[in-house]
Amino acid sequence: MPEIAFIKPTLPRGGALVLLVPEGVALTGLAADADAATSGAIARGIEAAAFTGRKAQTTTLYAPGAGLARVVLVGLGKPADVTPEALEAAGGTAWPAVSSATDVTIAADTLTPAEAARIAMGLTLRAWRFDKYRTTQKPEDKPKAEKIAIATSGVPAAKSAWAPLRAVADGVFLSRELVAEPPNVLHPVEMAERCKALTKLGVEVEILGPKEMKKLGFGALLGVAMGSEIEARMVVMRWHGTKKKGTPPVCFVGKGVTFDTGGISIKPAGGMEDMKWDMAGAGCVIGLMAALAGRKAKVDAVGLVGLVENMPSGTAQRPGDVVTSASGQTIEVLNTDAEGRLVLADVLWYAQKQFAPKYIVDLATLTGAIIVALGHEHAGLFSNNDELAQKLTAAGLVTGEAVWRMPLGEAYDKGLKSDIADMKNIGGGRAGGSITAAQFIQRFIEPGTPWAHLDIAGTAWSSKDAPTIPKGATAYGVRLLDRLVADHDEDA
Ligand code: BES
Ligand code: MN
Ligand code: ZN
Repeated sequence: MPEIAFIKPTLPRGGALVLLVPEGVALTGLAADADAATSGAIARGIEAAAFTGRKAQTTTLYAPGAGLARVVLVGLGKPADVTPEALEAAGGTAWPAVSSATDVTIAADTLTPAEAARIAMGLTLRAWRFDKYRTTQKPEDKPKAEKIAIATSGVPAAKSAWAPLRAVADGVFLSRELVAEPPNVLHPVEMAERCKALTKLGVEVEILGPKEMKKLGFGALLGVAMGSEIEARMVVMRWHGTKKKGTPPVCFVGKGVTFDTGGISIKPAGGMEDMKWDMAGAGCVIGLMAALAGRKAKVDAVGLVGLVENMPSGTAQRPGDVVTSASGQTIEVLNTDAEGRLVLADVLWYAQKQFAPKYIVDLATLTGAIIVALGHEHAGLFSNNDELAQKLTAAGLVTGEAVWRMPLGEAYDKGLKSDIADMKNIGGGRAGGSITAAQFIQRFIEPGTPWAHLDIAGTAWSSKDAPTIPKGATAYGVRLLDRLVADHDEDA
């Protein structure tokens, strides 16, 4: 990961220089200085490459003069569209164009210091890599840029704007790493172990095993874990950041199925490897807690994750089994592949009883049906509370982690009727599969608790690079929920 250093605006004598250029605006500041120092080579390059400053447009000019090895031009789009999010995207877009250079300077002298920090954020988010399991990588395949200097007229202000962003980036990285880890390494016991790292940030971490969960009556979660050689865990992470006494905490719950074979209702072989990221909801909650604690958010927050492996074996749960959840409600398990809702049922119940939270948001890679409905662009949002839904929608728009609200309703709930128990774990058919799943979860939410469920099956993993997200684990939800908390739940 390159290190960020904010420096006063001076023209570098060598290396790579990144110029951020809005559409239809003449070169000013360091960009104009660079053009003068290279006797107009930059302006000529812009002309020759037909570079207009269009959003995400990039052009590299090599050895333009004045000792510079390269000048990278990144388009910012129309001045009116230059939002903080667009600046992050520009920072991210710059990274692949400079990662092979040794000395890199980004000219942010025409931006505010806070905007310069957003450039740093975008670049940092894009530069993350997961190389842990590569042993034969050649040096030329690795990025060379170790230090990125960002030139700004307000160095101290940029530094203080960067500190909380850097903490959020660290939360994103923790989340991406957990999701990227292979399932033989990151099983429930190991994942719980990794949560302990948060104690360094001041988070209280409590780990519960099968014995404790049995005592709590977690029959739904433990039923899923029955087929695995590896024990289930629930981890409770608490961050105390508010000075106000007696305020209820905000609460986040994540599905952490470290591998989902489907159990006895086994999945087909093709693409089953994708099910290593069936713990992305939990990965998000852990990364979010790291982000909140890392930036010392003025809020009391609780993160809970239910960690299990869904395996077929001689001890696995069978289709037809009836389990009793912590809430006392019984569930007929007709499909062992509808396991995420069983895990959430117990953890959500516990969260409400234990913490009486201000609200609960759960995240889960819950249904393939949400991918059919929304593709990979939005997570499905289900909520019993319009205000919470509205706040999440707004946070989605500014972080780029978009949500789209889906319906809930009694007619959908009817599909969960069981012949012999309080409910079954699947609906009548394939129709509205994400909604039936959300209805199931809602049966474990008390009417007075504001609750939102995010089905992130389509957004947890990406098969292509985005400006600030390299392909792979996206850490979807960390920035969204950090923003929700920052905008609405912190002390003034
Ligand atoms: N983990 C899967 C959902 C999933 C599918 C996530 C594709 C990411 C990509 C979940 O546990 C599951 O298997 N859901 C079933 C539910 C069905 C059995 C009612 C599904 O979506 O097919
Ligand atoms: Mn499943
Ligand atoms: Zn699953």
